[in-house]
This record gives sequence, structure tokens and C-alpha cells, in this order.
Amino acid sequence: MPQENYSMESVSHENRKFNPHPDFAAQAHIGSAADYRQMYERSIADPEAFWAEAAEELDWFKKWDSVLDESEAPFFKWFSGATTNLCHNCVDRHLAGPNRNKAALIWEGEPGDTRVLTYQDVYREVGKFANGLKQIGIKKGDRVAIYLPMVPELVLAVLACARIGAVHTVIFAGFSADSIRDRVNDCGAKCVITADGGWRRGRVLSLKNTVDEALKGAESVTDVVIVKRAHGDPFPCHFKEGRDHWYHRLVQDQPIECPCEEMEAEDMLFLLYTSGTTGKPKGIIHTTAGYMLYTYLTMKYIFDLKPEDVYWCTADVGWITGHSYIVYGPMQNAATQIIYEGAPNEPDEGRFWEIVEKYRATIFYTAPTAIRAFMKWGDQWPEQHDLSSLRLLGTVGEPINPEAWMWYHRVIGAERCPIVDTWWQTETGGHMLTPVPGATATKPGCATVPFFGIEPAILDDDGAEVDAGILAIKQPWPGILRGIYGDPQRFKDTYWCKWGGKYYFPGDGARRDEDGYIWILGRVDDVVNVSGHRIGTAELESVFVEHKDVAESAVVGVPHEIKGQGLIAFVTVIQGRAHDDKLRTELVEMVDKSIGKFARPERILFSSDLPKTRSGKIMRRLLRDIAEGKELGNTTTLADPGVVEQLQRQYEES
Ligand code: PRX
Repeated sequence: MPQENYSMESVSHENRKFNPHPDFAAQAHIGSAADYRQMYERSIADPEAFWAEAAEELDWFKKWDSVLDESEAPFFKWFSGATTNLCHNCVDRHLAGPNRNKAALIWEGEPGDTRVLTYQDVYREVGKFANGLKQIGIKKGDRVAIYLPMVPELVLAVLACARIGAVHTVIFAGFSADSIRDRVNDCGAKCVITADGGWRRGRVLSLKNTVDEALKGAESVTDVVIVKRAHGDPFPCHFKEGRDHWYHRLVQDQPIECPCEEMEAEDMLFLLYTSGTTGKPKGIIHTTAGYMLYTYLTMKYIFDLKPEDVYWCTADVGWITGHSYIVYGPMQNAATQIIYEGAPNEPDEGRFWEIVEKYRATIFYTAPTAIRAFMKWGDQWPEQHDLSSLRLLGTVGEPINPEAWMWYHRVIGAERCPIVDTWWQTETGGHMLTPVPGATATKPGCATVPFFGIEPAILDDDGAEVDAGILAIKQPWPGILRGIYGDPQRFKDTYWCKWGGKYYFPGDGARRDEDGYIWILGRVDDVVNVSGHRIGTAELESVFVEHKDVAESAVVGVPHEIKGQGLIAFVTVIQGRAHDDKLRTELVEMVDKSIGKFARPERILFSSDLPKTRSGKIMRRLLRDIAEGKELGNTTTLADPGVVEQLQRQYEES
């Protein structure tokens, strides 16, 4: 059954319902529940016709022979025979019409510096960047790792790769050198694009130094491109002749014109590494045509995007949200968007609201963990700013508790803006369950209804339909992942392991209410969602057991007031070795080094043993109960019931 997390208990008796505001519905792309239902039914009855019609809104070099090819399921093929290019659809397509001189990116650095790039500017900069990459030998199919702060060059780098058909793999700038190395080695990246540094909470993070460390032992990388952002202050940026190139030098004399590579529909677009239930992150594969169409259409309908909107997604491009709803979705739709480099509380807790006011943002998309932090900081911060430009709010990344939803609705949305609570995953490419803002009545904490073409079901282990159980998706959709890089078997084992491989298994628990709405109840596997960052408990466990004094470890996720979930680590120490604060500090340092600071556990508890069944399986459910201070049920199946009492005592005392 689903892991109980922060929102599960609180949503079970939630019955408030908010209809779309009539003013919003009147102007929306989809303005009534009946319109949604009609489109949805058409998308399910004849998905190929639905997707083919939507695909006509985009540019193709060559049209498809078939819409969906299921002959090698679960390796689905969409739009076989077609050729296109994502960068073309994000940039070149807009140059002929009125969007040419429209602001594409309104960027603000944490220190307050700003840049605005129109679609024409993006075309020029991407063309030069793409030619620069070609000059250092990058060609179609090569993997390029991108490790950048949230600067315009991050978007430009992604688009430049798409333009020449290089496969980008963006690595969130909070990841450690070890994590970069693992990813670079897994995909055999030839090039890394990074910066000398980036601003976060008033400090410069030394990204290039981290890359240098990572590349000790990453033989495939021949070239490193460095964007100058921090200007060497306070970290001198080491420069390795023959391998390293300053971005500004590389692009300065490049021609603007760089023809788009004609990409086959199923040519790889990008890899994005995400956590699973083993210690090794998986390189999720997304390909060209299906992902293109899916991000285009979800962006248009779920954000009800209009030419005059000023859209702001606060995610980092290092995560899937930034790929789909900063780069590809908004830019295919010729949106004007805000990109902000830094922290929400720098220089004070009003920074986000100051940005909304300054640029008159109309659509705001963020994570529940941020909303909970804003709530804690107090209403005085948003109240100091004019937020009347906002017309639509969104959340993503983890379940939102009704209290946070209501605060968002009341304080930020002035009870006027619809909230789209979008459930989806790195693997799904785009929104899957979400309100359609002009059409769906919302409920606090509920992801509500499926997007077009998505057929969800809630099943038990045997595949029977139930009211509360495991979420399944019955039919493929264009944005579905196409595999795990280098590991087709893991792809099958992870996502097609249940129900005879008939349905996609996302790993979430869900419940259907009396209106047919779907509520997400959290993960059913050993993946934890910390501040919207997905972390496999096995990843941390494998870090801890590398310590010479550690015998075994089990990590569990528990509810956390701000982060949604926090990590608690139970660690057993080899007999006779010290378990003290020094060891605790060393273990935290190992997490920083192996994964990144964002994966630090809330607490590390030492014990002489872990609760196990007689067959030797660690009983995580019990560990979660201990960490949540819950009454413990039957422990008689344990090999040694005394272990639990000992752990419980320690937890309470620590
Ligand atoms: O458990 C679900 C949760 O985040 C997981 C996917 O994480 P990731 O691939 O990192 O993508 C996050 C951004 C799309 C899901 O399996 N999740 C995501 N959005 C929601 C959510 N849980 C509840 N409600 C959501 N809106």
C-alpha cells in the first residue's frame, strides 16, 4: 500500500470544491467541463486522430507514416517516418510572424542584474552556440552534459544541443562531483558545459571546480565549455588548455546561421537522470517528436497560455519541470517567461513577489515545498507587493497539503486564480493528471483529472480496479519515456513489472473520490520526495555502507512540515566501533560528496541492529512508524523483537 506521507491523512476528509472563476472560464482555451469531457473522450476513443490533429500545429520537415507504433511495446514509437527539430519549433518557427521581437526570456540574476532576450536574440545566440559546439567536434548523437546555474546560457545550451541533434543531459547544479562523474560516465558524454560559478543565497557556488573534480576519472569528456558568470570571484577558475574553452570566446566569431539537424521522430533528444529504488540513478530517455508534441500541448491547455502572458516557472532546468515547462513547452508556444537565478529569500523573503510585481507575471508555477516555506515566512511578504497581474497558479513535484493549497489560493491567488495541481514525472515528459483551469472544479490537494489521451486506473496488485491502490496508466502517450539509457531490462523491470506488463506503473499510490477525481497518495516504492527532489533511499544507504565503520543502513522518508518528506537514516555500526557525533559528521560529508547537500538526512540514528523479518528483510514500515512516533503494531514476525524497542527508545531520547 502507499506510503503514508504528509498529505495523505489530511486529504482523506477534504471536501471543499472551487469552480473556475467565470471570468477565467470565459477567456480560457477550454472554458467548460463539457468541453473538456468532449475533447477527452475524443482523445481516448481515437488517440491517433487526436494526436495527429494536434501535431498539425507544429512544423515538420517531413510528416509521419504512422502515429503510434506498438509493435515493439513497451518500446513505443510515435510519429514514425516524420522528421522535425525541437529547436526549430521553439525558435525559428516564431521568426516569421509577430513573435520575432517578443521577449522570450526575461532573466534576473540573484544580485539583481537583468537580461532580456527576444526570440530573434535567442535565434542568434543559439545559432552561434550550436556552431561553437560543432567547432569543438560535437555532432548528432553525441552526449553533452550541462552543469549550469539558472542563467540564460542554460536555456541556450539546451536549445543548441537540440539544434544539432546532440543529446543533452542536464545535471542540477546542486549535485556533487561524484554524481556528475557517474552521469557523465554512464552516458559517455563528450563535452561538459558549465560556468565558473553561479549565485545562490548571496554566495557564489564554484561550479567549474566541481566539474574539474568530477572529470578526474571521466575519460569520455574531451571538451569543457565555461560560461563566465562569477568572474573568478571568489574562486579562481582553473583552465585546462586543450580541453577548456571560454564560452564567450568560442561563440564570438561564429556565424549566426546554423541549420537545424533533421531529426527522426524517435531520435534521442535528451537524457535526464533520476532516482529509482536502487543505488544507481537511471538515465531516462526522451525522444524528439512525441515529447515535442506533448510538452507543446500540455503547456497550451494546462497553463491556458495566451500571447500576452508573462509566465514564470520557478523550477530549475536541472529537473524535468525545467525541461518541459521552462525550455520546450513555453518556447514552442512562443511564451514570454521569467527566469530567476537565485533563492526565494535573497535578499529577503519577498523576492519572488517583488519579481511577480516587477514583470507583471500572469502565470506562476512552483512546488508545494516553496509554498509551505512562504506560509511560514508570513503573509506580510506577499502583502507588500501588487500581485494583481496573476491569473493562474500551478504546483508540481509532490502532493500539496490542503492547508498550503488554501494559503496559495487565498494569499497569492486572491481567491481568483485557478490552481493547477499537476501530477507527472520525469518519465512522463509532461502533465498527466491535472485540472484544466477553465474547466475543472478544483479541490485542495487533488490532482483531479487526466490530460487528453491519458487513461489512468487505480488497481490492486492483481490488476483489479479499486478505489484506493496503485496508480496505473493504461495507454501510451506521446511524452512517455522511451527507455533507460544502456539498460532496456531495467526499463522493463521498473515500469512494466506489474499487471503482466500491460500498463505503465508510475510508482505512486492513488485514490478515486466520489466525483471520479484522482488523489495522489505518494510513492509506493522506496523513493522519497524531499522538497520536490526525488531521492532513492537505496542511494543514501549505499553511501553509508561505504564507511568503514558501518555495517548496514536503512533510510526512510517521514513527513516534514516544509519539505513534504524528510529522510531519517538508521545506521548499524560494526561491533566495537564508535558511534558518535564524529561518525555522524563523516556520514553527512559522504552524502554531500556522493550526491549533494540537498540529500542530507534530517537525522542519523545508530543502533546495534535493524528490525528484520526471519527471512532477513528489513522492515521499513516499522522504521517509518518509529520515526513518526506511531504506535507499533504486531512485531512478532520479527527475528528479534527487542531491536524495535531499543530503536524506539533511542529515537525518543535523541
Ligand atoms: O510521487 C510523484 C511526485 O513526484 C514524483 C515524480 O518526481 P520527478 O520525476 O522528480 O518529477 C517531479 C516533477 C514532475 C511522482 O511520482 N509528484 C509530482 N507531482 C506531484 C506529485 N505528487 C503529488 N502531486 C503532484 N502534483
